[in-house]
Amino acid sequence: MSQWIGTANQSYAPLAIEEMRRLLPGATFAPLAAGEVFLMNCQQEREETLEAIHGQEPIFLRHIQPVDRLIEISGSAIDLEGLSDMIRHARLTFSDKRTAVHIRRSAKSNFHYSASDTKALLDAVLEEIDAEPVVQLPEVIISIYAAENVLYVGFASPEQMLSDWPGGAVRFQREEGQVSRAKFKLLEAERTFGLNYASFKNALDVGAAPGGWTSLLLERGLRVTAIDPADMHPSLMQHHALTHHKRNAADVKLVANTFDLLVCDMSWSPMLMSRLILDLQGSLKPHATAIITIKLMHRKPLQTIREVKERLGTAFTILKAKQLFHNREEITLFLLKK
Ligand SMILES: C[S@@+](CC[C@H](N)C(=O)[O-])C[C@H]1O[C@@H](n2cnc3c(N)ncnc32)[C@H](O)[C@@H]1O
Repeated sequence: MSQWIGTANQSYAPLAIEEMRRLLPGATFAPLAAGEVFLMNCQQEREETLEAIHGQEPIFLRHIQPVDRLIEISGSAIDLEGLSDMIRHARLTFSDKRTAVHIRRSAKSNFHYSASDTKALLDAVLEEIDAEPVVQLPEVIISIYAAENVLYVGFASPEQMLSDWPGGAVRFQREEGQVSRAKFKLLEAERTFGLNYASFKNALDVGAAPGGWTSLLLERGLRVTAIDPADMHPSLMQHHALTHHKRNAADVKLVANTFDLLVCDMSWSPMLMSRLILDLQGSLKPHATAIITIKLMHRKPLQTIREVKERLGTAFTILKAKQLFHNREEITLFLLKK
C-alpha cells in the first residue's frame, strides 16, 4: 500500500484520476483541492506505483508526491517544530544531498505560516544535518502539502515527482515587450521534453500569429517560416530570418524536405488540424521534431487525444503527450517525423 498526492491543471483532476485508475487498478481517490489536487491510496507499494506511472506517464498528471509522513496541524508553532523534527529524524535521506523544500497549501488550511517563512526555517534545519538547501537542480525534494488539518509530507527526486517545481507549477519570468503569453508554452515544452531549440536550423510555425512561438525560435537563432492569415506582431516583421505566409495553411505550398522543426499551435478542431499537419508533412525532413498543441474542445478529451495520436501516428512517432502547466484547454504533443 502507498499513499500519494496528485496534481493536475485546474479542473483536469478528474481526467488525471481516470488515467490513474487505468494504470493502478484498485486505487481510491479523495479530493484535496477541487478539480486540481487529490489524495490517492494505492494497493501497490511505492516502487511499483512509480514504475507504473513512469512506464506510461499520464497526460493530465502534472505532479505526484508520495505521502511519507502525516503531521496533524495544530495551528501554532508546534507545526513548525513537527516539520523540523521530521527532517532531523530523516537525516540520512538528506545529508550530503542538494535538497529543495516545496510547500503548497489548500485555501482552507489551518497551517498559518507562509511558504517562504517555513522554507527559511527548514533550510536552516537542513544545514544543521549537513544537507545542502537549494532551489535549482535538487537531488531530493521535501514536498509539503498543507491540507485543512493535516500536513502531507513526501520525499522524492524531481524525476519521481514529474517536476522540479512545487506542484509542477512552472513559472517563467515575463519579459518586457513579450509578444504573447503563448511563448511560455513553447518554453515549457522545451524543458519538459528535454529539447534545445537552438540545435535546429529551419522551423515551420503553423498558426503562428501574433508570434510568441516564432519570437522564441528567432531568439534561438533559427530561420522561421510562419503561416497565419492573421498579422504577426510588428516587432517581428522586419526580422531577416522570418518568412511570413499570410494565409490559411491549407493554401501554402512549401518546398519538400526543408524543415527540421515543426511547431503548431492552431487552437482549432483537432481532426482538421491533424489533416493539415499530414498534408504539410512532405516539407519536413526525416526525423524532424514536432511540437503540436491539441485543443480539447469535445466532451471526451481522452478519446479526442487517442484519435489525433492515431492519425498523426501514420507519419510521426509520438514520443509524449502531456498537459503542460501553461496549457489551458489543450495538451501538447511531442513527435518525430518517421
Ligand atoms: C493560439 S493562436 C497562436 C499563438 C502563437 N503560437 C503565439 O505564440 O503567438 C492560433 C493561431 O492559429 C491561426 N490559425 C487557425 N487556423 C489556421 C489555419 N488553417 N492556417 C493558418 N493559421 C491558422 C489563427 O489565425 C491564430 O492566429
